[in-house]
Amino acid sequence: MWHDKYKDGAPQPAQIIHCGKLPASVFSDSRDAARFVATVIASLIREKNATEQKTVLGLATGSTPIGVYRELVRLHKAGELDFSNVVTFNLDEYWPMKPESEQSYHSFMWEHLFSHVNILKENVHIPSGLWRLEEVERECAEYERRITQLGGLDLQLLGIGRDGHIGFNEPGSDRNSRTRLVALDPMTRRDAAGDFGGEEKVPARAITMGVQTIWEAKRIFLMALGEKKAFVIRKALEGEPTPNVPASFLQNHMNAAFILDEAASAELTQVRTPWIGGRIVDWTPTLQTRAMVWLSQVCDKPLLKLDMKDFLQHHLYDILHLEGGVAAIRERVFEQLLRTICTRPGGDKPLKAMIFSPHPDDDVISMGGTFLTLVHQGHEVHVAYMTGGNIAVRDDACLRHLDYVEESSQKLGGLHPETASRLKKCRADIRAKKPGDQDSADVLSLKGLIRKTEAANACELVGVTADRRYFLELPFYQTGSAKKRPMGEPDIEIVANKLRGLRPDQIYFAGDLSDPHGTHRVCAQIIIEVLARLETEGFSPEVWMYRGAWQEYEPHEIERAVPLSPEVVAKKKQAILRHESQKDGAMFMGSDDREFWMRAEDRTRQTAKIYNDLGLPEFFALEGFVRYHGQKL
Ligand code: F6R
Repeated sequence: MWHDKYKDGAPQPAQIIHCGKLPASVFSDSRDAARFVATVIASLIREKNATEQKTVLGLATGSTPIGVYRELVRLHKAGELDFSNVVTFNLDEYWPMKPESEQSYHSFMWEHLFSHVNILKENVHIPSGLWRLEEVERECAEYERRITQLGGLDLQLLGIGRDGHIGFNEPGSDRNSRTRLVALDPMTRRDAAGDFGGEEKVPARAITMGVQTIWEAKRIFLMALGEKKAFVIRKALEGEPTPNVPASFLQNHMNAAFILDEAASAELTQVRTPWIGGRIVDWTPTLQTRAMVWLSQVCDKPLLKLDMKDFLQHHLYDILHLEGGVAAIRERVFEQLLRTICTRPGGDKPLKAMIFSPHPDDDVISMGGTFLTLVHQGHEVHVAYMTGGNIAVRDDACLRHLDYVEESSQKLGGLHPETASRLKKCRADIRAKKPGDQDSADVLSLKGLIRKTEAANACELVGVTADRRYFLELPFYQTGSAKKRPMGEPDIEIVANKLRGLRPDQIYFAGDLSDPHGTHRVCAQIIIEVLARLETEGFSPEVWMYRGAWQEYEPHEIERAVPLSPEVVAKKKQAILRHESQKDGAMFMGSDDREFWMRAEDRTRQTAKIYNDLGLPEFFALEGFVRYHGQKL
């Protein structure tokens, strides 16, 4: 087995799934997936160095390979990896694009890898976003020639787009394609919108290695992390190879493997429904619940109406051997789900609750109904907004606020000359901004204020007074761009001190790791770290996780379901709409065209429908929560 070669020192996958011809290694921690790939690359470089051969690597950009580069840099800094004989070819680059632009793949590669290792500048190859149209074809052919001249790529590292692209080989790409100029798919441009400050600013074209160029690599690792890749991973591994999903062409490669984290593997048949195909599985209570919910959905029957025939017809023979058979499993799962329903999330006695919201609107979007319910039921609810969310405010929204400030102050007696000139400068800075430019410090703070006042306005509606809302402005977020720093000690201290001072009985936080730019992930990491530290100080509140705006927990995961009445849903919508700057094509809407209040409403109504279809009581809407008790996220 190809993994065995790297047993020493490399983290091992929790599971290796064979989907058709390709193995998919699933790691329970995405950092282990990155360390695994880095270990393989490092072994390859060392082997080649030992025989004085060059190592020719095909490299990718994007959020996925960052951990791999981090580990390679660590190995180099520890004196364990020499890059002097490494030659690299990057997959792609936006076109047109200046190499020094923050969004260029040149900048990305130097920032994450090349500047920190001893690679020779002349050994780095990245397609140029500056090639003139008339020379692109010739330069692309030259790119290919150089790869061939060096004996081809020893290893190609790939990410995957949600549309199935590898490199920028978008759906429809030819199996035999070579390095060329391509038009970017709308989904790819939408996914890159955050990096460029708006979809319209994302270049429409790119230069990419072709499918055939990639395919000729001697070994290929395609990495995918996070739940937003789960559907495309299933298509790429389980569907027929098709140009509609260019990554599916890898199925016929002799030495390719997918490296996934659990979230990205979640839609694979062997993960989602491991019992199919007569496999013997470990029937943990969670898997039993998942199987029963699935069976009820495929049979279109409530849980308590499922009978022996349903189990037999749907590959669930093995579960029948568990103690008590059909009746016992059916009842256990039904009762367990019934117990999740909770109309008094704060309990019967008044308590103190703290809601942590990564951005200023996640509290109302993701748990606005429970937030309202806690306040209405007389609990003392506090909210901490962890970041300012300023980069998600569009320039036109900021200009409108500048108009308001200037005009209203003129009406009311004029502005201090220094303030007036700074406001004028903000306006000029915004007008002079070119795609990819960062906002000035003043503009960023004005944008932050817009979001702060929106959050305050939503809190007023929910019934949380100014003394119970906190704007933490965590330092990790304050980069002025979509790229964030990892969590640091100052972030941890701010959150820890807030909790030390308040000592809430209940805490809610976004246990959601899949927002497009990682802010939720960092916020969750900070809270988890703080909780671990405070536990040693004897502080152990009840902690619940809600999911961010992008997804809801699945029914088998939900440990608490809070029913929302039509009135609560309507008020929750109003609270979400108080976040005016996040409506109508806001920057981080992602791939979903629905406004945030619609997503929130659809999601909670859908959970209520699922519960009802399972034979549980009928509710207008439900918000789902999972209890945090130290589990790995
Ligand atoms: C980048 C590239 C792309 C990305 C893909 C996934 O060089 O070629 O195919 O790998 O778009 O991007 P992330 O990793 O950001 O999800």
